[in-house]
Amino acid sequence: MAIENGSLKNLVSPDGTISREVFVNREVYDQELEQVFSRAWLLVGHESLIPKPFDFFQSRMGEDSVILTRDRQDKIHVLLNSCMHRGMRVCRYDKGNARSFTCPYHGWSYSVDDKVVKTPGQLVGVPGYEEHYRCKLDKEAWGLVRCPNVFNYKGTIWASWDKNAPPFLDYIGDMKLYLDAALDNPDGSEGGSEVIGGVQRWRVPCNWKFAPENFIGDHYHNISHRSVDLVGIGPSDGRGRRDTEEYESLIIGFPKLGHGVIGALPHYQELPYSASYRNNKEVQEYYRQVYERRVKLLGDRKRVLTGVATIFPNMSFHGIQPRTLAIFHPQGPTEMEMWRFYLVDKDAPEVVRDMLRHYYLRYSGPGGLTESDDMENWGYATQASKGTIARRHPYNYQMGMGYAEPVKDLRDAVVGGDTTEENARIFYNRWRQFMEGQSWEQLMAGANQEGK
Ligand code: FES
Ligand SMILES: [Fe+2]
Repeated sequence: MAIENGSLKNLVSPDGTISREVFVNREVYDQELEQVFSRAWLLVGHESLIPKPFDFFQSRMGEDSVILTRDRQDKIHVLLNSCMHRGMRVCRYDKGNARSFTCPYHGWSYSVDDKVVKTPGQLVGVPGYEEHYRCKLDKEAWGLVRCPNVFNYKGTIWASWDKNAPPFLDYIGDMKLYLDAALDNPDGSEGGSEVIGGVQRWRVPCNWKFAPENFIGDHYHNISHRSVDLVGIGPSDGRGRRDTEEYESLIIGFPKLGHGVIGALPHYQELPYSASYRNNKEVQEYYRQVYERRVKLLGDRKRVLTGVATIFPNMSFHGIQPRTLAIFHPQGPTEMEMWRFYLVDKDAPEVVRDMLRHYYLRYSGPGGLTESDDMENWGYATQASKGTIARRHPYNYQMGMGYAEPVKDLRDAVVGGDTTEENARIFYNRWRQFMEGQSWEQLMAGANQEGK
């Protein structure tokens, strides 16, 4: 199973085993950047991080730094954050507001003002343009590299470098329903969420795939969170990690697309108003009203209630509290940079925001108790897989193989019960297809697409 003569074949085996090279090998990693991260749709940010014209937010796509910016017409652009002269980072701030970016190295400047330039990111200022370049430098040709595909889905901003990538909605298929559960207001109205308190970014000494694999369907690692469950970090400070109502959690995967969720099948269920958030009467009252609005608005429409999920390759989300989005940026074969965006209802009063902010910090992020457990596992697993002897032995992903069944109400989905490694197999099979360099035609073959 090891890499032979530079071949990446057989790393993901049909017998449900996966070579450790997939998690520690530099050559595999370099191919991932090329085949996965320069083609797939990636989450790059949220519109609430750049609410006004010329606001910017520095983001990443794979190892590439990008600038997310909004022009005068409110159109969002994604630009490569690397000067076209010698590659210097033209933007070194996490966020801010700027009509142009001037490179600190030799002073080339690029405008994002659509009143000044035809294409945001265009080169407008070059020191010595007349004297040293004799006016011969083609400024239109040397603007910042622009990402050709940018899509705003209910406030989340997605981008792909590949001109031939399918539309974002085709790429996610019916995973959309689960993403909606994270992005819609819990009162049933569409969208209406915003990022609270900025974005947490930190490094974890593990291969980036450990995280999306965990979120896509690892439903049996609760032993890791035993201490958190004993201490209790829920919104009402009680025992456990959550005190929201019980929800059904099945392993539902999308084999043709590579996404998956630990959640419920589409169904109608009145959200039972439980005594959650019972420590704070104001917060409790807010959620009671949210529930009443929801019942009024949704009537008997189907709803999907989700726990946690992954959109291939490196974005995961929590559709229930703590409601967050995560990105796992590759940072070498044995390191990743993890980002967390925390969502709140736009119209939530201060007291609710404050309660959620504290809860999110207790649960997630570098200091969050639940996240710390997971990071410890991923870090030690990566380190213990690097050794000469260790890497000769594949990981086992054989749980529940051959038992997944199609789902009636979801396009291209299968369900494998409540505990199976089906979704991890789906994820790595998709990864294999990308790594083999399959065309988009091959990658999307057989998947039901919007409008087709
Ligand atoms: S590297 Fe940017 S102007 Fe030279
Ligand atoms: Fe976990």
